Amino acid sequence: MSESKGLSKTEILEKKNAQAILGGGQARIEAQHKKGKLTARERIDLLLDPDSFEEIGKFVMHRAKDFGLEHQHYLGDGVVTGYGTINGRLVYVFSQDFTVFGGSLSETHAEKIVKIMELAMKNGAPIIGLNDSGGARIQEGVVSLGGYADIFYRNTLASGVIPQISAIMGPCAGGAVYSPAITDFILMVENTSYMFVTGPNVVKTVTHENVTSEELGGASTHSTKSGVTHFSCSNEVECIQNIKTLLSYIPQNCEDTTPLLPYETTNDESRDILNTILPENPNQPYDMREVIEGIIDENSFFEVHKNFGENIVVGFARLAGRSIGIVGNQPAVLAGVLDINASTKAARFVRFCDCFNIPLLVLEDVPGFLPGTDQEWRAIITNGAKLLYAFSEATVPRITVITRKAYGGAYDVMNSKHIGADLNFAWPTAEIAVMGAKGAAEIIFKKDIAEAQNPEATLAEKIEEYQEKFATPYRAAYRGFIDEVIYPADTRKKLIKAFKMLENKVVNLPRKKHGNIPL
Ligand code: HXC
Repeated sequence: MSESKGLSKTEILEKKNAQAILGGGQARIEAQHKKGKLTARERIDLLLDPDSFEEIGKFVMHRAKDFGLEHQHYLGDGVVTGYGTINGRLVYVFSQDFTVFGGSLSETHAEKIVKIMELAMKNGAPIIGLNDSGGARIQEGVVSLGGYADIFYRNTLASGVIPQISAIMGPCAGGAVYSPAITDFILMVENTSYMFVTGPNVVKTVTHENVTSEELGGASTHSTKSGVTHFSCSNEVECIQNIKTLLSYIPQNCEDTTPLLPYETTNDESRDILNTILPENPNQPYDMREVIEGIIDENSFFEVHKNFGENIVVGFARLAGRSIGIVGNQPAVLAGVLDINASTKAARFVRFCDCFNIPLLVLEDVPGFLPGTDQEWRAIITNGAKLLYAFSEATVPRITVITRKAYGGAYDVMNSKHIGADLNFAWPTAEIAVMGAKGAAEIIFKKDIAEAQNPEATLAEKIEEYQEKFATPYRAAYRGFIDEVIYPADTRKKLIKAFKMLENKVVNLPRKKHGNIPL
């Protein structure tokens, strides 16, 4: 009070505004910059359209009375919250301020975040969290834990209603990791951000492992080993750019339609390049990304989870201007086999697209599920079933193109006609069968081969026989499981027409509270 003595009412407001903007003070701002990090406000400036940010709760202060906190007050209490626009579209944002008590989460800090989450939900716009926090404010005890739980609860209520994006731009320990984990996408910044349930010191005490913060929970660890983060960014500017790009593919909420960019057709949507990607030998790899690039609008592929479960490729793209989600087996990695990581990665992506009305394109070349004790003991059955479940319950327009192999259970799982795909195309190179010809011949002609005078020649003969009958798309096409066998060069043209045809698709699932995906 006394600090404002003699000042006019306007001057008092000006002073408070200036104080709030300084957060924890100039020295701490400089310390933040020295670590290669931007401040909470600088990040918001980079993220939002110029002059679009409107702050909410700028003068909120904590109410704690213990451990000396009663003498330390900072306007805003370590988090900047509000709303603004990105490319003209409304978003809500909170940005934790590490210069105020290390961005730690107090009761009031949590209340500010909850307030804008509720506004975001009521108004149907995405919420973006820029996280930089030492976790629960230690001096506040259980009220800060309660604050986290209030946020987790809203994250869960908002899931599937509005897109939720979390950027990790500093430490994120303890409870601070669980709010991002519930959100749709996590982005991390290399070398300046980390996420873990407990830090290296606790790890050392409990498991006697020596590990650095970076190894335990840095961007590289979480983008490759755990898959916790979807994007690993080399710096904060790249991270913020990625958030903007990501949002450009996503509707504002679950009632909204996918963004549509103006698109002028050339009247020739055939792409000859697609005739040349598959190698002559069906056992040789190729990069499914080349097929994706050949189909979509130029340079529109935005890959998600790039360095995790690389045997499957997922991401957003545009087809004749409209956003679509793509799931493609990747023959260049582990022959494109489905394992636990690939299944969970793709299942989560499919569910996101379905939540937000983004049509799905599946590009299939899959030899089956990965066999072996490692996978079985870690529950490939339950995890593979997640992908099966995710496709089966998706009601968005769904199209599959089988480029080459569609073997075994993986044929069913990868958006087959039987689990509700709308249109299934196959290239002439497609092989749709229970298994590869060699494996099949060895099993079903075991006796003939064993009794043959020349077993090798008989095996070769039987492989050829099986291949001719089943290693083609035609058996499936005769049955109507494949709607059309198409020339690769026509794929883009066919897909543009097909997605347009499916634009007004409506599916009513059986009435239920919610399903029980095999988690
Ligand atoms: C209060 C905190 C704080 C916290 C940091 N600070 N974390 N204040 N509560 N959780 C304060 C510091 O006292 C310091 O204040 C300032 O923030 C910067 O912290 P430094 O340690 O100087 O910075 P740095 O060396 O960069 O280390 C950052 C850090 C470290 C790695 C985050 O501070 C740290 O380990 N903090 C504790 C992390 C933690 O265990 N949090 C609780 C998690 S449990 P001054 O005044 O000196 O600038 C949890 C439970 C929730 O979150 C469960 C819900 C399910």
